[in-house]
Amino acid sequence: MKQFIDENFQHKMTMFSTHTYQSRRERLKKDLKSGLLFFPGNNEVGMNYAGNTYHFRQDSNFLYFFGIDKPGLAAVIDIDSGREIVFGDDLSLEDVVWMGAMPSIKELAARVGVREVLPFRRLPSFLKKARRSGQVIHFAPPYRHDNMLLLKDLLNIPTPKLKGATSEALIRAIVAQRSHKSQEEVAEMEHAVNVTGAMHVAAMRDAREGQVEAELAGKVEGIAVAGGGNLSYPVILSVDGQILHNHYHGNTLQKGQMLLGDFGAETAMHYAGDITRTFPVASKFTTKQREIYEIVLDAEVSAIASLRPGITYREVHLAAARRMAEGLKSLGLMQGNLDEAVAQGAHALFFPHGLGHMIGLDVHDMEDLGENYVGYSDTVKRSEQFGTAYLRLARTLEPGFVLTVEPGIYFIPQLIDQWRRKKMFTEFVNYPALKKYRDFGGIRIEDNVLITEKGHRVLGEAIPKTVKEVEELRGK
Ligand code: GLY
Ligand code: MN
Ligand code: MN
Repeated sequence: MKQFIDENFQHKMTMFSTHTYQSRRERLKKDLKSGLLFFPGNNEVGMNYAGNTYHFRQDSNFLYFFGIDKPGLAAVIDIDSGREIVFGDDLSLEDVVWMGAMPSIKELAARVGVREVLPFRRLPSFLKKARRSGQVIHFAPPYRHDNMLLLKDLLNIPTPKLKGATSEALIRAIVAQRSHKSQEEVAEMEHAVNVTGAMHVAAMRDAREGQVEAELAGKVEGIAVAGGGNLSYPVILSVDGQILHNHYHGNTLQKGQMLLGDFGAETAMHYAGDITRTFPVASKFTTKQREIYEIVLDAEVSAIASLRPGITYREVHLAAARRMAEGLKSLGLMQGNLDEAVAQGAHALFFPHGLGHMIGLDVHDMEDLGENYVGYSDTVKRSEQFGTAYLRLARTLEPGFVLTVEPGIYFIPQLIDQWRRKKMFTEFVNYPALKKYRDFGGIRIEDNVLITEKGHRVLGEAIPKTVKEVEELRGK
């Protein structure tokens, strides 16, 4: 296979040191103690036919423990025998003609400290033998249908039963490791945030009245790709900022509107940035826009200032909700006892989502493993109240966590109408005053923050955020 080796391959697949992957797997073995850990990698997925594929994205757990950013692989850690094996096939000459050369799977596996490589076709018999011997096979929840079918066939578990057959012990052990970012991971995330920052500065600098949102969406996506990686999630860039996950880019920008941009880059190693900025299409905010903007900004800045180990993120979320409620009361949009209003969830009319989430290899880090394992604990349980129920992270913060802080205030006409009709929280919400805000849109501000031993550190170089900074850039 020597003739297929691409000398420049190192530049095409960046990895941490061999030791990093070895020590991650060692810790996993220590935590699980026995059994066989099975990690299916991701495969190419056809968009409209098999050969026309979506952009390939490796599974994040596979990346974390095995680092090889290629489709068509699976890996096992047999704790009982000590074997670690990557299953996969080297390229045929035909593959090389179409896709170019790459190192053998053996060489790639050696880079992450795995000595044993077997052809993929050996996987069924290997797992069958393990099952026959009574070994427990641990796997994480699959989220792609091809891997669901693979697991069904390999382990003889009907697909509807797969979810219940996943390993809680493996999930907990992965979450325990991936929640604490190492220095080299933080450096990578800082890079992701800096590329993300360049995307936001470009959007804020270049947005012009008369442009279609798609022009700017294309521009920011281009910066993510030029940064060596890709988007970390589909771009949200819209004058309809009140639609939380809005992926429509067909509106023409008009003076008097605001543009909400929530987008980010992932690095070549797939660590994500997730930043939101909101700015006026005109060079300056109107008074009405600035009033709401300052409330959101104040909530974001004070939430960040309060971050430290030992505080629960639920407290931070509720404090941000309370601060925004105070601001809304000063504008006459909320009223009454605000402690009661927040306790009962009245603020969720304006702030219907959570304050943030863990971020890392995934933008919502480890969401495939189950949000309650990642963001909650034995002592912090998920609320069922509208709004707070969407909080993805509520547990006590620890050094090494990287999370987003992303408060927002939105005026969602359908929600306002429904709550008004149902006479919801009339004690706390001034519905008549809301009439003037029906077409306001929404404002969100989001940054990515590392929890340190003593407090916190906002990742990346500062991205314009105060009214003065934003207007300065818009005026250029
Ligand atoms: N970009 C999605 C989010 O902020 O959670
Ligand atoms: Mn975001
Ligand atoms: Mn986010």
